Amino acid sequence: MSLHQIMYISSATGPVSATQCAAIAKDAEDRNRVDGVTGLLLFNSKRFLQVLEGPRDAVERIYQRVARDGRHNAIVKLRDMPIEAREFGEWGMAYDDPFQPASALKDKVAKLLDHAGPSTRAHFIGSAEMHRG
Ligand SMILES: Cc1cc2nc3c(=O)[nH]c(=O)nc-3n(C[C@H](O)[C@H](O)[C@H](O)COP(=O)(O)O)c2cc1C
Repeated sequence: MSLHQIMYISSATGPVSATQCAAIAKDAEDRNRVDGVTGLLLFNSKRFLQVLEGPRDAVERIYQRVARDGRHNAIVKLRDMPIEAREFGEWGMAYDDPFQPASALKDKVAKLLDHAGPSTRAHFIGSAEMHRG
């Protein structure tokens, strides 16, 4: 079975609460599991950064569906490539909690990226830093 990875960044079209974001992630996890697709969804109160990994057909189908979702726009694909192994063993979720210091999100993301390669880490760490300006 050939494994594939798609990574994209997008902008939220409206306000997304921590609760809504957790619901999007939980829903995605449940749906993706059926197709053997895993990955990571990061939200930093303005932007989403998501990685989808799994069988190529399923990853592309899910990406097409997600890309049409009106809750985000300005989607930019950062990666679309075959992979030898999953960079993220299990689904993870991180978001900006206003009651935590800004560094908390970065720490959380770093932890979720334990097994990811250097280029993936750079994308996510950058994303965790790019807000609260
Ligand atoms: C940022 C973001 C990420 C999403 N990720 C997934 C995902 O990984 N898998 C998934 O099935 N749906 C995901 N969704 C939800 C889909 O866009 C869509 O609402 C859902 O799959 C239901 O599609 P349907 O109404 O055509 O059945 C995501 C939505 C957003 C806004």
